[in-house]
Amino acid sequence: PCDPQNIAKLCYERFSQLPRRGKPEPGREWTLLAAVLQITRGADSHSVAMEVVSLGTGTKCIGQTAMSPTGDVLNDSHAEVIARRGCIRYLIQELHGAVSGRGSSVFCAADERGKWKLRPGVSFLLFTSHTPCGDASIIPMTDSQPQPCPPVTSVKGHEQTDGGGDLKRKAEESGEVQNSKQPRLEETAEMKEEDRGDTEQCGSLNFNKTSETPSQTSSSADLAQTDGAGLHHQVSDIHRTGAKCVLGGPADPLQPGVRYHSPGVLRVKPGRGEPTLSLSCSDKMARWGVLGFQGALLSHYLQEALYFSTVVVGKCPYDQEVMQRALVTRCACVSDLPAGFSVRPPELLQATLEFPFSQAQTELQHQAGQGRISPCGAAISWCNITEQPLDVTANGYKHGVTKKALGTAKARSLLCKLELFHSFLSLVSATDPSALPNSLRKAELQTYWDYKQASQSYQQAWQQLRSQAFPLWPRSDRNLLLFH
Ligand SMILES: *[C@@H]1O[C@H](CO)[C@@H](O)[C@H](O)[C@H]1NC(C)=O
Ligand SMILES: *[C@@H]1O[C@H](CO)[C@@H](O)[C@H](O)[C@H]1NC(C)=O
Ligand SMILES: *[C@@H]1O[C@H](CO)[C@@H](O)[C@H](O)[C@H]1NC(C)=O
Ligand SMILES: [Zn+2]
Repeated sequence: PCDPQNIAKLCYERFSQLPRRGKPEPGREWTLLAAVLQITRGADSHSVAMEVVSLGTGTKCIGQTAMSPTGDVLNDSHAEVIARRGCIRYLIQELHGAVSGRGSSVFCAADERGKWKLRPGVSFLLFTSHTPCGDASIIPMTDSQPQPCPPVTSVKGHEQTDGGGDLKRKAEESGEVQNSKQPRLEETAEMKEEDRGDTEQCGSLNFNKTSETPSQTSSSADLAQTDGAGLHHQVSDIHRTGAKCVLGGPADPLQPGVRYHSPGVLRVKPGRGEPTLSLSCSDKMARWGVLGFQGALLSHYLQEALYFSTVVVGKCPYDQEVMQRALVTRCACVSDLPAGFSVRPPELLQATLEFPFSQAQTELQHQAGQGRISPCGAAISWCNITEQPLDVTANGYKHGVTKKALGTAKARSLLCKLELFHSFLSLVSATDPSALPNSLRKAELQTYWDYKQASQSYQQAWQQLRSQAFPLWPRSDRNLLLFH
């Protein structure tokens, strides 16, 4: 039922049905698309309904100083993050239906007072038109020369479509590396399978890199595809990510070819000029695989965290093993999670359909005189809710607002922390006091920070995840979370 082609098609169609506002200019601008799909299996398991409940586009992330202490700006507008936040709006609407007795297609009452759970047969899937930024984007390239035995990609059955910049760099650098890269006959598919097995074991990645110096890191920074025995000769270079390593950990070795990056480490989002504080989508998605994607606030109402059953990536440079490392392996060993949380990595699939507004498609369609190709500056959110389903932003504020309106309610995105918090509070007021979850029965809850902290199990799960897998994850600044 979850055919990746169908899913990609459904998402691209939903996008094409949206109004023009915030969409890229064909042939000149490109963007990234992500969507959350709700899958509902009938009681007989024969019927499966699939619908896009939230869709997001966007490529930008604002710098640190533009972050707002009133929670009124979107600091991260990458498509995956927009799609998740839109899905939170959708889930709040569904919980409204549930607590008010109107009913919900998503939730039904759980055993615990004030808590809800997914209706039987309901699950969620994340689609993204591109490999997530950060760790999952450090993708090995394979030599295109004819080879005596099948290259790794054919074993895995994927196509690689190099991005323009990477291609150029590859042409420049490949001359010097290829001589020593004659594949040996013993490099069989079986051996690849064995090596791949390693990457799925817990602890095969060195998470404890804080104690290493950068120069040590470069020698131990082995990609899954380049093991110490010198196998996998086909890999001559890697796709690079603009996402920089978080402070306090190892830096990238920045050596030519496969040793350019340190694999497996946390990264902040790429951005021009000022560094951003938002983590890469690979890191955020790995986190959703343990904490769920519902966030701290909705956890008050849920008996169990909500996990994506599947992540589908559209046609683009992609590597199954690297996706596995970035989204799954890094958190695979996390234990001692509180009730309602578990390590639930998604199944990873790739579709062969490409997003028509991808960077590669835009480069193909570009015509002379159109001006420089660039990422689209706007971010579109659409979710299937009755009130204000569309939200188009630029630079973290509503698209098209005047400078004068900045700081007013008119300029706020419905996805910003403050707006999501307010719709959460309206859910709380719509809940009959006798049906409030225990964690919300405290008089002293006031700020966004208070409400998040009071979500105790979520915070405990985050503590475990942080200490066991992501000790370098930057702490959010409390002063940016005290609004109400
Ligand atoms: C991490 O490194 C420190 C210092 O080298 C060491 O004491 C500790 O046991 C290591 N932890 C793991 C999980 O490898
Ligand atoms: C939105 O949800 C409603 C109710 O579940 C459904 O009937 C409708 O088809 C959905 N709209 C879209 C565009 O998916
Ligand atoms: C914005 O930045 C803060 C502080 O680093 C971070 O905690 C938060 O997750 C970011 N928001 C988004 C939408 O990524
Ligand atoms: Zn991203």
